[in-house]
Amino acid sequence: MSSQQKALVLLKKQGSFELGSRSIPSPGAGQLLVKIQSAALNPVDYKIKDAGIFVTQYPAVLGSDVAGIVEEVGEGVENFGKGDRVLARGKFTSDFAAFQQYTLTDASFTAKIPASESFDSAATLPMGLDTAVVGLYGDQFGARITPPWEEGAGSHESKKPIVILGGSSSVGAYTIQLARLSGFYPIITTASPSNEELVKGYGATHFFDRKLSGKQLLAAISDVTDDPIKLVYDAISLPETQSVAWELLAENGTLVLTLPASVEENERKGRRVIQTFAGTDAAQNEELYSSSWAMVEKWLSDGTIKPNKYEVLPNGLEGIIGGLERMKLGQVSGTKLVAHPQETR
Ligand SMILES: NC(=O)c1ccc[n+]([C@@H]2O[C@H](COP(=O)([O-])OP(=O)(O)OC[C@H]3O[C@@H](n4cnc5c(N)ncnc54)[C@H](OP(=O)(O)O)[C@@H]3O)[C@@H](O)[C@H]2O)c1
Repeated sequence: MSSQQKALVLLKKQGSFELGSRSIPSPGAGQLLVKIQSAALNPVDYKIKDAGIFVTQYPAVLGSDVAGIVEEVGEGVENFGKGDRVLARGKFTSDFAAFQQYTLTDASFTAKIPASESFDSAATLPMGLDTAVVGLYGDQFGARITPPWEEGAGSHESKKPIVILGGSSSVGAYTIQLARLSGFYPIITTASPSNEELVKGYGATHFFDRKLSGKQLLAAISDVTDDPIKLVYDAISLPETQSVAWELLAENGTLVLTLPASVEENERKGRRVIQTFAGTDAAQNEELYSSSWAMVEKWLSDGTIKPNKYEVLPNGLEGIIGGLERMKLGQVSGTKLVAHPQETR
């Protein structure tokens, strides 16, 4: 194996991407070296490029969603071996990032891919699923629902409504599926009408057009359930979706956001608002992640969690540049974009 690999490098803070070469790192204790077959794109990737957030060292390699083949196993790793097909969560550190041909992964953020799934479908999971997990089950960064793998799970949520704004987004799609696993009912979601079947396929029981105003949606939901809406997960969290969420949320309810809150404290009227944070290094998420990542292989093989619909970009790592532009322009609907780093020319 060569000691060098191709990588898509962000040259400097708020700079531009360029195809480059960097050395292949060696796995330390508890780590794996993975040859990346599929890397998925996330909105945070273009936000890092444009706003210079999260990443501190440049030149930098980005990308949070990895699927590939284990090439080397670090000390103390027992549950993975060379040749395993795996998916893993990347980090905002170049050696652990997805937009290159080889990456390190933490064994605790890695799971085997069952034979039924491709590298492409598996690559759609890590960031979206982690964000859904933390937003629903997190203690500090979530709604504190009992996770489905714990005793007593589902007893509170069973037959309680949840509203998930943006069900066709990656985060929304995984939140719908976890909400179903946790026993929420009805599971009410919004998206564009072209994605109605998609979100129902993930387990949404009721679909509404994302163009409805808060008042219109509230009226429509009153035909679905008489129960107060105590939990809204706003996967989009733009000011317009947040104002819809506030319109729907009952007294003492909880609103989970993926972006900062745009509503004033005094307008919250005692309702709890949580900006979720699916960071890999947040100590508050550690225990939760170790349990959720231990479930991923099983969830995928028994169909509990269906990966996002995906589209493969052309031209290996270079294709990521145009893919991120499309995401930024809002031109990607109900679909995760995936690149093949090994096809880089
Ligand atoms: N806090 C964290 O730790 C964290 C982690 C991950 C992501 N995020 C953030 O969460 C957000 C979602 O990320 P993602 O990866 O899930 O995004 P994504 O999959 O790229 O989102 C695309 C989807 O957004 C939907 N959408 C756009 N505007 C909408 C609206 N007004 N109402 C309903 N749906 C709308 C579109 O639905 P239609 O095409 O059906 O209209 C489209 O399918 C991003 O802002 C991301 O940066 C935060």
